[in-house]
Amino acid sequence: MKGIVLAGGKGSRLHPLTQSVSKQLLPIYDKPMIYYPVSTLIAAGIRDILIISTPQDLPLFRRLLGDGSQWGCSFSFAEQAKPNGLAEAFLIGETFIDKQPVTLILGDNLFHGAQELKNISSIISQKGAHIFAYQVKEPQRYGVVEFDQNNKVIGIEEKPAAPKSSFVVPGIYVYDQSVVERAKALQPSSRGELEITDLNKQYLAEGLLNISPLESGAAWLDTGTIESLMEASQYVQAIQSRQGILVGAPEVAALKSGAITREEFKVLAAQADNSAYGKAIQSIAKR
Ligand code: G1P
Repeated sequence: MKGIVLAGGKGSRLHPLTQSVSKQLLPIYDKPMIYYPVSTLIAAGIRDILIISTPQDLPLFRRLLGDGSQWGCSFSFAEQAKPNGLAEAFLIGETFIDKQPVTLILGDNLFHGAQELKNISSIISQKGAHIFAYQVKEPQRYGVVEFDQNNKVIGIEEKPAAPKSSFVVPGIYVYDQSVVERAKALQPSSRGELEITDLNKQYLAEGLLNISPLESGAAWLDTGTIESLMEASQYVQAIQSRQGILVGAPEVAALKSGAITREEFKVLAAQADNSAYGKAIQSIAKR
């Protein structure tokens, strides 16, 4: 299974924080933001992962994540020269995708406790696209799902001024192998981007878009504003200190999903730094 983490963009809503460093490298509590989406993919059983970022930031991601072998994975890296939209990931990643199904996750999306996302391996063999829906208070900030009286999805609108429901599309998308050809057919939107929503609408028009709700108890946090960035850190701190676990730790996701053995995890723990994160890894290794 192939996965892509898209970690591009200017992060201008977080300036000056993101003036000199990529948004997806900012801390969410005790670890860099990109650890969370990478962990989500690993937990879903995805091992072959392409990281896409800007030419300036890509070397930093390489330094942080390495080639993935330490977590039983294989990481590749590719540049997105300009913020031309989320759907450009499939054009940049064409060779990597190699006519296989692929899961795209946005580098600034944090999921926790969503069982649905562990089932991607069974979803991925189906024809079409599979996306998720999550209820939020401010749907106008996202891609909004429109349902008919029978709860059938009849439309998706990108950041509508008057949302037709409070269910929005989180930043994780599972596509069949037709995604690259479909992305090639997209035209830039009025904001000059290849929109993921337009891609999803193509699938919808052909009856090939499947949507499942994420459980209301699951957390989907976004980190696009300074308030949501802070809330995400507080959420992770609260869960971790209460339960003594690590949320969004790739080595833990790798252990639980069988990408590495317990012995390999113990080796990682022995190499871990004397940081809070490193100590948490060491204490998990002892359990
Ligand atoms: C993007 C998508 C939007 C989706 C959101 C999830 O928005 O365009 O449909 O709901 O990610 O995070 P953006 O990050 O470009 O604001």
